[in-house]
Amino acid sequence: MRSDYKGVWKTLSQTISGAKLHVSGTEDEATIEESGLGTSQFLLKNVGVKASDVVLEIGCGIGRVGKHLASHCQRWIGADVSPNMLAFAAERLKDFHNVEFVELAGNDLRPIEDNSIDLVYCTVVFMHLESWDRFAYVEEAYRVLRPGGQLYVDNVNLCSDAGWATFITHCKFPPSQRPDHITVCSVPQELEEYLKRAGFKEIESHPGAELISVWGHKSD
Ligand SMILES: C[S@@+](CC[C@H](N)C(=O)[O-])C[C@H]1O[C@@H](n2cnc3c(N)ncnc32)[C@H](O)[C@@H]1O
Repeated sequence: MRSDYKGVWKTLSQTISGAKLHVSGTEDEATIEESGLGTSQFLLKNVGVKASDVVLEIGCGIGRVGKHLASHCQRWIGADVSPNMLAFAAERLKDFHNVEFVELAGNDLRPIEDNSIDLVYCTVVFMHLESWDRFAYVEEAYRVLRPGGQLYVDNVNLCSDAGWATFITHCKFPPSQRPDHITVCSVPQELEEYLKRAGFKEIESHPGAELISVWGHKSD
């Protein structure tokens, strides 16, 4: 069942091979490094990360992105529903002394204190969540962010050619054979609306070749 996120993702990440494949579609380390660097550079350039920032990633997987962001911030917290993913991320980031790992229940950030984080980001995760749980994480991000802090989210964009191709491919699954983690795209307005409704200001959108990226600030 799709919304049994812990059961689904524990099963998908039983081995490092499975974890890598379900995080980035490949086991090739060079490709994983390159894509993690690319996402971190997008965040550094467009959203901004300061050396004094406490940064939280929702759905950190094997630490693909965290490995390239941890040296740019004061503290990096990797949070995930799967304890297996967290163990693989801890191994990947073992040389960093400013990282910690938090296991999540599936649609809240209960272990994280109010007003304690400068940047929350969630990349390549929303496609696996029900829409209600996407919004639940946006609301939770607002709670844990400090005034002026930022939230970044993305999803496969139904309105891009690549996103549409994914959608059409997935149309071919008969309903009873759809994998629990099948990608469900967003249109840009969906993500913008979640941020707006949760109270975020100065909302920006960036439509990439495949992903729609949206970010905004918690009011000061
Ligand atoms: C495609 S991977 C992306 C991992 C990482 N963000 C990256 O970009 O490399 C999706 C991740 O989201 C996690 N996940 C799935 N459902 C979740 C949920 N409800 N809450 C938190 N994490 C979840 C999975 O365990 C997995 O690590």
